Amino acid sequence: MNTGLFPFTEEHEMIRQAAWDFAQKEIAPIAAEFDESGDFPRATIKKMGEMGFMGIEVPEQYGGAGMDTLAYVLALEEICRADAAHGTIMSVNNSLYAYGLLKFGTEAQRQKFLVPVASGQAIGAYSLTEPMSGSDAGTMRGRAVRDGDVYVINGRKSWVTSGPVADYLVLFTMTDPEKKHRGVTAFMIEADRPGFIRGKKEPKLGIRASATSEILFEDYRCPVENRLGEEGDGFKIAMVVLDAGRVGIGAQALGIAEAAYEASVQYAREREAFGHKIGEFQGISFMLADMKTRIEAARLLVYQAALAKERSKHTGERFTLEASMAKLFASETAMFVAHAAVQIHGGIGYSKELPIERYYRDAKITEIYEGTSEIQRMVIARMETGLR
Ligand code: CAA
Repeated sequence: MNTGLFPFTEEHEMIRQAAWDFAQKEIAPIAAEFDESGDFPRATIKKMGEMGFMGIEVPEQYGGAGMDTLAYVLALEEICRADAAHGTIMSVNNSLYAYGLLKFGTEAQRQKFLVPVASGQAIGAYSLTEPMSGSDAGTMRGRAVRDGDVYVINGRKSWVTSGPVADYLVLFTMTDPEKKHRGVTAFMIEADRPGFIRGKKEPKLGIRASATSEILFEDYRCPVENRLGEEGDGFKIAMVVLDAGRVGIGAQALGIAEAAYEASVQYAREREAFGHKIGEFQGISFMLADMKTRIEAARLLVYQAALAKERSKHTGERFTLEASMAKLFASETAMFVAHAAVQIHGGIGYSKELPIERYYRDAKITEIYEGTSEIQRMVIARMETGLR
């Protein structure tokens, strides 16, 4: 729905249409199969790279499509309407990996680590979480110890999206544990160096085709020139990058919600019970009305956050509040809508014959990763009240 509130251009409509066409032709037909097997959809991800979807906001000189944040969220939303797992891989490449590298990387780092990922030839990942450090991200235990021209890195990271397949990672680890979060440093990691060990792949409820794993570091030697920013900058880099990531997760949640809603409207128009189309019953029609209203409210927040992120490229202003509100509301909307969609479909909604149960499973992660709903509420309340 074009609300008229946002500065959409012909270019935005072109990328939205291209993403929709690609998603319906290439992704929708294979989504159930890859959800079932949990295999990484390498072939479609490669094609998405060729279409420019893996680095939409990255300037062309660094291998990207050189478009803006609105273009990114529109494309991601359409991909996620077909399959949220493809969307997760796309979102991590674009936001958690490319955004930070573009913002904080040196020219040499951009050439080496950004060009292959933004052009879709390599996969990027972001690694902050550890088994004992999730929401409280500043308490990580991994260590990087400087030894001449290298840092020697040891530690265990968990829940790394694309961990089983990533070629490069942005890693956050401690260089000075006494300084707590101010002792965190970011590093660009190459997966083919000794000491980089892919751990167990996580079996998951949803987004099953997006591979997630632990990553272990055992005396991994990272050259000093691969440090992102200065020693101690890591926590802030992680947070700034997560702000960008959260806009993407908002778009992902919006895409899942739209898919579940559209299927529900269709079903309510066709399915009959007690001599009526089920959409004629208030029990169903009021559900549809609430689903639609929440989706459009989520859309406003997600597009508003996209504009705030775009503005920040020029002003340097934070868009933390907009990003957290968009992620919080859109992810809870996706869960609300997917839950109602299963209910409207009844038994067939619970069956793997239709994608409705997959939308329900996929929606859940949007309330958890890149900061739980509770963390988003904490961020929003702190920003508004100034209290902690
Ligand atoms: N932008 C810039 N700076 C920020 C910032 C932001 N958005 N948020 C915090 N900071 C800065 C603060 O200003 C502060 O700076 P000083 O050191 O100068 O004072 C510093 O960072 C510490 O901030 P806080 O005191 O607010 O830190 P905290 O320990 O209270 O934590 C938090 C804040 C918001 C809870 C944060 O820890 C957080 O976001 N936690 C959730 C982590 C998360 O989202 N994890 C998901 C990982 S990715 C993933 O899911 C896997 C995947 O692959 C997709």
